[in-house]
Amino acid sequence: MFEMLKQLKEAVLKEIEAAKNINSLEDLRIRYFGRKGKITEVLRKLKDLSQEERINIGASANQLKQELELILEQKKKDLGASFEAAREWIDISAPGHKLPRGHLHPRTQVLRKIEEIFQSLGFSVVWGPELETDFYNFEALNVPKDHPARDMQDTFYVDEQMLLRTQTSPMQVRYMEKHEPPLRIIVPGKVFRRDATDASHDCQFYQIEGLMVDKEISVANFKAVIQEFFKRFYGQDTKIRLRPSFFPFTEPSFEVDMVCAVCGGHGCRVCGQTGWLEMMGAGMVHPFVFKSAGYISGQWQGFAFGMGLDRLVMMKYRINDIRLLNSGDLRFLKQF
Ligand code: PHE
Repeated sequence: MFEMLKQLKEAVLKEIEAAKNINSLEDLRIRYFGRKGKITEVLRKLKDLSQEERINIGASANQLKQELELILEQKKKDLGASFEAAREWIDISAPGHKLPRGHLHPRTQVLRKIEEIFQSLGFSVVWGPELETDFYNFEALNVPKDHPARDMQDTFYVDEQMLLRTQTSPMQVRYMEKHEPPLRIIVPGKVFRRDATDASHDCQFYQIEGLMVDKEISVANFKAVIQEFFKRFYGQDTKIRLRPSFFPFTEPSFEVDMVCAVCGGHGCRVCGQTGWLEMMGAGMVHPFVFKSAGYISGQWQGFAFGMGLDRLVMMKYRINDIRLLNSGDLRFLKQF
């Protein structure tokens, strides 16, 4: 019996020594110390022995069991520690993981280009608030409360006084209140209109306002600046034309068309077979607007324009649905 215990001990020690991981250790524990384990079996056989033998062998069997269990526990800890250590080990020679890298939104890319062109023509880039007062968005721009021109732009009102600006034009008065001419600015920014959404309309889009004021500014100056802009933006042979139009805050007012970039003026689906595309509203600053800004009447002349940025992006990249620009869809955005 003593001999058997001794052999068992050696076998168990050898196996513990050889165990390479927690699983094989657990397997070993069950084979020796489990309910049907070999050591358990020996302890069970004790009841068949004489009382004297039972006391002697029983004591050393129990001692052996405790001793082996301790060793087993220790081995378990050692294995766990080296497992952790292996996990923390860093192979500094392994090739690195490439981090996914984003890029600027196509609208931002186009805006940067536009800003660059106007800055080189002496314009500063300024930004205004999206939450605007009724005064700056309408009243100061010669659009009183019951003026029919308010219907041209359905407005999101926040309360009686505050609204989401429907155009970037409110920045004309805001800027002139704080600055004396001569001045040249463009104002990019988000505008909002209560429009039904479709491929060419979104209730949120971007405009770029332009304003130039000095002692002698005429339509000729406007045409020169805008012609230069379109040439640098779309290419040297880009043609534009002015058409008479109406805005309460400019007089005279016009609409600027550009030869369709898709068909080159022959007529296609994008330009509705006309060969021309409407690019912006513009005009000479109305005396009412100078008055709103606190300028002395008759002292200054200027032109103003407002163009849709999303429109320019769509033309530049031949995008046929404005909603894609705000979709956040990476399959779309990754193409730019
Ligand atoms: N604010 C006008 C619009 O949203 C555009 C415009 C700007 C017209 C400046 C004239 C002068 O349609």
